Amino acid sequence: MKTSLAFPVQQTQNSRLSETDFSNLVFGKTISDHMFVADYKNGEWTDLRIEPYAPLHLNPSNAALHYGQSIFEGLKAYKNENGEVIIFRADANWRRMNESAERMCMPFLPEEIFMEGLTQLIDLDRDWVPTAKGASLYVRPFMFATDDYIGVKPSDTYKFIIFTCPVGNYYSKPVSVKVETKFTRATEGGTGAAKTAGNYAASLYPALQAQKAGYDQLLWTDGKSHSHIEESGTMNVMFKIKGTLVTAPTHTGTILKGITRDSVIQLAKDWGQTLEERFLSVNELKEALENGELEEAFGTGTAATIAHIRLIHIDGKDYELPEKSTDAFSHRVLAELDGIKYGTKSDPHDWVMKF
Ligand code: COI
Repeated sequence: MKTSLAFPVQQTQNSRLSETDFSNLVFGKTISDHMFVADYKNGEWTDLRIEPYAPLHLNPSNAALHYGQSIFEGLKAYKNENGEVIIFRADANWRRMNESAERMCMPFLPEEIFMEGLTQLIDLDRDWVPTAKGASLYVRPFMFATDDYIGVKPSDTYKFIIFTCPVGNYYSKPVSVKVETKFTRATEGGTGAAKTAGNYAASLYPALQAQKAGYDQLLWTDGKSHSHIEESGTMNVMFKIKGTLVTAPTHTGTILKGITRDSVIQLAKDWGQTLEERFLSVNELKEALENGELEEAFGTGTAATIAHIRLIHIDGKDYELPEKSTDAFSHRVLAELDGIKYGTKSDPHDWVMKF
């Protein structure tokens, strides 16, 4: 692979590859051998390196641990039949990471550092990219504050790290979701559009309540009136009602600008699928369920890809969704995305990078 940015690479002497069971991958539990690290100090990114994946040494006064100045991304790498590694839309992750960084008063990360760190790390650990159907290498770039200081202010120093994990499907079967009308994920003016740690921490308690009640995930509603659907836990969400695909717009700053969401929208447009980026009210969703007009509902996300929704709970009532036929939009779009990602379909939007 051609590289344009040179930095030291320290290879592990104790690879865990041979002891890894690729037939039994639990999402996020198995980490590959190496990580890419860069430090930010005196106003610049420095000390770029790849080293063996290992614990970090942090002081208890580390600012990120106290005030949550921490952002992350998620993307996936795949392997095609020729053994080439394929990365999907990494440039979009780089752009979104910098949008999150700006909102969280964290430094801009140059594209070259993100892309070279990512590609050189994945190339070094390319034997960790699984080949089984549905499996991939999940890539987790993240940045966090490293000042040892517990005054409340933006940190002056940061670390950017990328590590990777071979993963199978995030959801192994269609999911049940509960429309959440008490707790709030994001409000206008808040951090909902940023991929920042605190958003996920704040979602844990409501999600746990839903899980205790027997549902896999939440459908978040808006923070003001809880009257329209925003997104699902870890995914954006789309509905097909009377032939039209409906998904929430992102201009309010309360919704994560999902890269899978954007890819699905692009493909829907390519196919002439009618699509509305608008808020869907809980009442309209309920009516569509009651009148049998909701044809499909699914989540879109990097980890989950396309997660079919089989049941929606609203106001004390469970609504089962119809079984989807194999030509359902969500099946077709999943097959198309998989084809592009595994290199078996053409890539008209230049979404993949191969090496
Ligand atoms: C992703 O889909 O990459 C996510 O960020 C979800 C993750 C929190 C599991």
